[in-house]
Amino acid sequence: MSAPHHTPVLLSEVLAILDPKAGETVLDVTLGLGGHAEALLKRVGERGTLIGLDADTRNLAQAQKRLHSLPGRVRCIHANFRDLADLALPGVNMLFADLGLSSPHVDDPARGFTFREEVPLDLRYDRSRGVTAAVWLAQSTEEEIAHCLRVFGELPSSARFARALRERLPTTTTAVVLAAESVYRWRAKTVLPQIFQALRIAVNDELGSLDALLAVGPTFLKPDGRMGVISYHSLEDRRVKQVFRSLTSAPKHPQTGQDLHPAEFTLLTRKAVVPSDDEVTVNPRSRSAKLRVIMRRDSPPS
Ligand SMILES: C[S@@+](CC[C@H](N)C(=O)[O-])C[C@H]1O[C@@H](n2cnc3c(N)ncnc32)[C@H](O)[C@@H]1O
Repeated sequence: MSAPHHTPVLLSEVLAILDPKAGETVLDVTLGLGGHAEALLKRVGERGTLIGLDADTRNLAQAQKRLHSLPGRVRCIHANFRDLADLALPGVNMLFADLGLSSPHVDDPARGFTFREEVPLDLRYDRSRGVTAAVWLAQSTEEEIAHCLRVFGELPSSARFARALRERLPTTTTAVVLAAESVYRWRAKTVLPQIFQALRIAVNDELGSLDALLAVGPTFLKPDGRMGVISYHSLEDRRVKQVFRSLTSAPKHPQTGQDLHPAEFTLLTRKAVVPSDDEVTVNPRSRSAKLRVIMRRDSPPS
């Protein structure tokens, strides 16, 4: 098999808006194959530092190989970004997250994210913790499965399909495909991506992890520090938008409604930044990407 590849999304926009500078410390909490990290590290240069996390050990190892040949200090940590508060990391000038899965998860059947080949139904980024999708299905009620399919996958007839999954308790990707064919018939192929997306979001508790990142991430920013998040799903983007809006809104006097002091952060992206038509043509996986960025003010509000 050829070396895994992942094209970094919105790369020039990330560099332009997050604007890494020589000597800065950058925290990339979703290293993936290190595409964004490589570009960020080149910008911070030999006096700079890049700290990278990934929940997936295989991606982490690939990124580590790629980054260690570059000038600058590099520290790669196998961790989930939901545990950021426990990692004893220093303050940073830039925090970056590029959510979700990477191309190798989809391209390499052995990762269990694809339905093109028969493999165990796993779908975890981190195989050293949590439960596989097969176990998650066995432990969940029909209602919990239907909720996951409806909300995370926007799947039609989610209750019927949840029943089919509970009856069959699939342990392989092929068994999910067969269950989908039993409910959706000729339309099964079109809904399989939604089914696998829903299971992936549930198994990795992607929204819970994002909430934890949004709560803790901004506290790591030094004055003038920037935090950028690329999301790929409306449920993720809504969370990023709400948290960033509240961090960048001045607290109000409860009686007069006047600003008590300026907000601690400013918004660097008034609207979400999305890929150009050219980028979507070259890299269709970028089509749902949305980038939002905030910056901590240079001095605490008085
Ligand atoms: C979209 S890819 C990042 C690609 C990367 N920016 C690049 O250019 O190669 C997302 C990565 O985040 C990892 N990931 C997803 N959720 C995570 C979490 N909660 N904590 C840490 N890593 C996570 C995945 O394993 C995957 O490698």
